[in-house]
Amino acid sequence: MKERINHLQKEIDLMTASNLDELEALRIKYLSKKGEISLLFNDFRNVPNEDKKEVGQLLNDLKNNAQNKINELKEHFDSLQNTTQENDLTRTAEPIKLGTRHPISLVREEIIDIFSRMGFTVADGPEIEDDWHVFSALNFAPEHPARDMQDTFFIERLPDVLLRTHTSSVQVRVMNEQKPPIRMIFPGRVYRNEAISYRAHCFFHQVEGLYIDKDISFADLKQALLYFAKELFGAETQIRLRPSYFPFTEPSAEMDISCFLCGGEGCPFCKHTGWVEILGCGMVDPNVLRSCGIDPEVYSGYAFGMGVERITNLKFQVKDLRMFSENDVKFLEQFESV
Ligand code: DAH
Repeated sequence: MKERINHLQKEIDLMTASNLDELEALRIKYLSKKGEISLLFNDFRNVPNEDKKEVGQLLNDLKNNAQNKINELKEHFDSLQNTTQENDLTRTAEPIKLGTRHPISLVREEIIDIFSRMGFTVADGPEIEDDWHVFSALNFAPEHPARDMQDTFFIERLPDVLLRTHTSSVQVRVMNEQKPPIRMIFPGRVYRNEAISYRAHCFFHQVEGLYIDKDISFADLKQALLYFAKELFGAETQIRLRPSYFPFTEPSAEMDISCFLCGGEGCPFCKHTGWVEILGCGMVDPNVLRSCGIDPEVYSGYAFGMGVERITNLKFQVKDLRMFSENDVKFLEQFESV
């Protein structure tokens, strides 16, 4: 028995394997249930009692040595496998780059996010519209210049069909279908027949807002817009409302924010006025409420509309509007995904 143990011990000392399969074969040979060392354990009961202590010790040592040797070799193969992975010449040299979100989408999402915190929900409407939703229901006089071919894309041979020039048309659709209270924003793409240049494009994006309920006042509008401006451009932002005219609101205003580059001091960016214009707004004209089947004696409301490109330009100082639709990767890459 002792001789057999010594013999196996030598074998194990010299044991090598050139791969994991060979190593597994060795483990089976020595350590599995029917392996050589296990068989010796089976024979142990035949060892004379006086030798049991010594042989038992030798047998245990043999088994431990075999197990340690096999573990050692396994570790060696494992580490080898890791290093070959690191040196894999077929792997791509650069990590794969993630795409970026379009700046217009980033800003649109931010606008939606701010208004949803004030309880506004989002609705959508068609880009191909008719005269009534885009103009008539919004109190545009029949001869209003915005209806002119110069500004609006009409569909040939279908004089009543046109591409919407603003998202205010969605107001009309929503007011036709729902009863107040209505507190919604309408993001979407709009079209105008403009010559394309660094400051004008034939399509762009707007977000329209509408809040109709009992007792809605101009003060409510002002508070909502102040909150919006501070959230979007920073807590120190101030707003100012200048009287203006839109057919669908009365009174109407345009909103400026204090220039965030110079803090209102005056700089080339704000043309030394300290203010930059960002949106149009006002109290919904009673004529519009009436066209949409809402009683202006009971309900009032405010509306506002802003250009997403304009706000994106302000936030990221993009100088040329055409960049937004050219899909130049060098431009888009600057807006890393978050
Ligand atoms: N629809 C206007 C435009 O395209 C923007 C606008 C101004 C929307 C005032 C409004 C508003 O809802 O109240 O220029």
